Amino acid sequence: MNVEIKNLKHKFQQAIDEVNDFIKLEEVYQLFFGRKSGELTEIMKNLKELSGEARKEMGKLINEVKTELEDIYSKKKVALQAESWKNIATTEAIDVTQPKIPATEVGHMHPITQIQQQIEQFFISMGFMIVDGPELESDYYNFTALNMPPDHPARDMQDTFYIKGHGDWVMRTQTSPVQVRAMQDYGVPLRMLVPGRVFRNEATDARHEHTFYQVEGMVVDRNITFGDMKGTLEALAKHLYGEETKMRLRPKLYPFVEPGVNGEVTCYLCKGDGCRVCKQTGWLEIFGAGMVHPEVLKAGGVDPEEFGGFAFGLGLNRLVMLKYGIEDIRHFMSGDMRFLGQF
Ligand code: DAH
Repeated sequence: MNVEIKNLKHKFQQAIDEVNDFIKLEEVYQLFFGRKSGELTEIMKNLKELSGEARKEMGKLINEVKTELEDIYSKKKVALQAESWKNIATTEAIDVTQPKIPATEVGHMHPITQIQQQIEQFFISMGFMIVDGPELESDYYNFTALNMPPDHPARDMQDTFYIKGHGDWVMRTQTSPVQVRAMQDYGVPLRMLVPGRVFRNEATDARHEHTFYQVEGMVVDRNITFGDMKGTLEALAKHLYGEETKMRLRPKLYPFVEPGVNGEVTCYLCKGDGCRVCKQTGWLEIFGAGMVHPEVLKAGGVDPEEFGGFAFGLGLNRLVMLKYGIEDIRHFMSGDMRFLGQF
């Protein structure tokens, strides 16, 4: 038995030396340590037959050999692991000089579309419908129907692009012509909002652009008051700039409303104290509004004796410029990703 034990170590070492993967290693281990018929296990079983001192001595020897075998086993395991890491490192190495694969670029809404949708959602929640109108508009709807007959001085403020040889067609200077179109198309009572693109024959600079965006609103019904207008616009101002926002109205002439006002809100940045955004005034001018002129109601086929209403117009470029501190209106149409990517 003694010799058998001493041989065991030699046999085990030989078997292990021939191993070159983890599966084989476990197989050899089982061959010696397996609970049922492992060679070492068998020898240990035979211990029972001995007695006294002999048994004690043999036990000690077996334990020593067992420790040695386990040592051989773990050394081989470590060696195999090191070998496999080396293989991974050489066959699946990461090339740190390879250029990065660009992430798929996801687009987003233009900042003007974003604010347009925000305003649309607000008015939809108050029962307004969203209406569209033509960008190429007749002189009649763009001016005359809005109480600006030919030769009216207010036309000079809105020079535009005229389409030669096709009657009196212009690129609309404002979304207001849709007021009359909507009354004709849908009748009254009416609550509507018209977002859209408008055009002016401007020499462009940081504050002027030939193409920009407006949102027009109009309510026509019985018993509509100036208070209804003020409340609606105040709600809009709070929606855009926060609950603490205050609004003030100052008289201003727009031929299609009477009275007409220019609407200002307290500056969202300094809350009215005066800062760079509001040019130290504490106020931001954001809309024009007024009570719909009887002539405009008549042009829309509505009896001004029975119905009345209010209308308002906002410049969307200006709202976005104020919100983000954009200093040049020409960025919007530039298609420059360095600009657009920021929103
Ligand atoms: N259309 C005007 C403009 O382009 C803005 C405006 C002012 C619209 C007063 C309105 C209004 O509906 O009542 O300057």
